[in-house]
Amino acid sequence: MTKQRTLSIIKPDATTRNLVGKILSHFEDSGLTIVAAKMVTLTPEQAGGFYAVHKERPFFGELVDYMCSGRVLVSVLEGEDAVNLNRKLMGATDPKKADPGTIRNLYAESIAANAVHGSDSAENAATEIKFFFPELK
Ligand code: CMP
Repeated sequence: MTKQRTLSIIKPDATTRNLVGKILSHFEDSGLTIVAAKMVTLTPEQAGGFYAVHKERPFFGELVDYMCSGRVLVSVLEGEDAVNLNRKLMGATDPKKADPGTIRNLYAESIAANAVHGSDSAENAATEIKFFFPELK
């Protein structure tokens, strides 16, 4: 398996509770390397553009409002099988269904305020990384 990159977002529920360091430790302790990172407050245009695939979903408005409600830490993680590894570290989207010890099991509050986002495929990772880090080589 060759090195791969994935996009991670630590969401407002986690940044506002000072969980950034704890969550980044999960990534680094599993062998992933943080190759880019920035703390930003998203505009509705940015959040809506990033989550455009969900725009027909009933929760789209809530998702955009929520993602703009506080700072988020956007980062690019690099390592072997990074997309799948990060998804394992995060656990299921709904924290009630997330395996013990996963980030969402430990830190998420609800399906909307679920602490982290991670790309769900290598193809989407490339698109999402370009969205936030167009300059990244
Ligand atoms: P994420 O991995 O960032 O991708 C899309 C997000 O939509 C997801 O995490 C959840 O935070 C959010 N989401 C998914 N399903 C629901 C739902 N039923 N209600 C509210 N938000 C949801």
